[in-house]
Amino acid sequence: MKTILSGITPSGRPHIGNYFGAIRQHITMIGEGDAFYFIANYHALTSLNDRDRLDEYSVGIAADYLALGMDPEKCTFFLQSDVPQVTELAWILGALTPVSLMEKAVAYKDKVAQGLPANIGLFTYPVLQAADILIYHSDVVPVGADQKQNLEICRDLAGRFNHVFKGEYLKLPEPFIVESVATVPGIDGRKMSKSYNNTILIFDEGKELKKKVMSIVTDSRQLEEPKDPGTCNVFALIKLFATPVKQAEIAAQYRAGGYGYGHAKKELLALIQDYFAEARDRRRKLENDRNYIMDVLREGGRKARLRAETVMAPVREAAGILRNH
Ligand code: ADP
Ligand code: TRP
Repeated sequence: MKTILSGITPSGRPHIGNYFGAIRQHITMIGEGDAFYFIANYHALTSLNDRDRLDEYSVGIAADYLALGMDPEKCTFFLQSDVPQVTELAWILGALTPVSLMEKAVAYKDKVAQGLPANIGLFTYPVLQAADILIYHSDVVPVGADQKQNLEICRDLAGRFNHVFKGEYLKLPEPFIVESVATVPGIDGRKMSKSYNNTILIFDEGKELKKKVMSIVTDSRQLEEPKDPGTCNVFALIKLFATPVKQAEIAAQYRAGGYGYGHAKKELLALIQDYFAEARDRRRKLENDRNYIMDVLREGGRKARLRAETVMAPVREAAGILRNH
């Protein structure tokens, strides 16, 4: 059975771009192999130095996945920090990583350009990510297109280790780039992203949700005028939530005229509320059950450590790292 692995950085609360671009695929792929999903709290630390928020986001994202339908009995769901072999392997890989390889990484440059402090953790982020993947002998890594280079670096580092220490110690993973999903637009029409402050959160509700939906940017066409659903941000979001029949119906109303953006936004608001209604109920219950969430992650961590050690022991041995305990 193939091992599927992916990580989620707990650097904020997830938005609907994260849901359609990543979370939904993670959950549906569980049946296709032995799935490992972890909360990348060490990665989050490279940009978030606030104890309470890191704690809140880490437990929060776990609650979100569980509320959205992840069955912890059918996969291994855990905290990155519960598997110390990951940071151990990252150090060993780092010793084989040319600085020039990291200097080519675009994600680092992008993040620094966005104003994040240029720390060593951010610079070597792809090495830790490679360790995350290689430590479980992962076969398939479902990620968004923005992670392509990190996966190439991972394959490069696995190849280097195997070459230098002459053996097939680390398995080269196949990237699985989820490109079929169109980029979800934010309320200002740019890519929805927490860095742009233009998100609709999965679990936004009430006034907050309404305010965001009503402020989605549209062109200035009047109520009576025919409109093009193909270029409208509101319609792009409607498409994610509505059935094909409903989409066609709304598209026809756009083209016919006499249907304003206000109508479309109301429709979208109702669709979002309906789509996440059950998950929202489950999320509310989980909010008061930190113990349950920690139990799930603890059990996942136990399983993940067992797997990690089977990969790590021969790696230490191959590299000549002695262990005396
Ligand atoms: P953000 O841009 O908000 O910081 P992340 O970089 O943490 O989001 O992305 C986490 C996952 O969600 C990635 O797999 C990414 O490809 C996906 N994702 C983020 N924003 C979008 C979007 N607007 N549309 C589709 N997928 C997205
Ligand atoms: N860098 C990934 C992101 O920003 C998160 C991540 C960390 C990850 N380690 C990973 C993804 C290992 C896949 C595999 O979305």
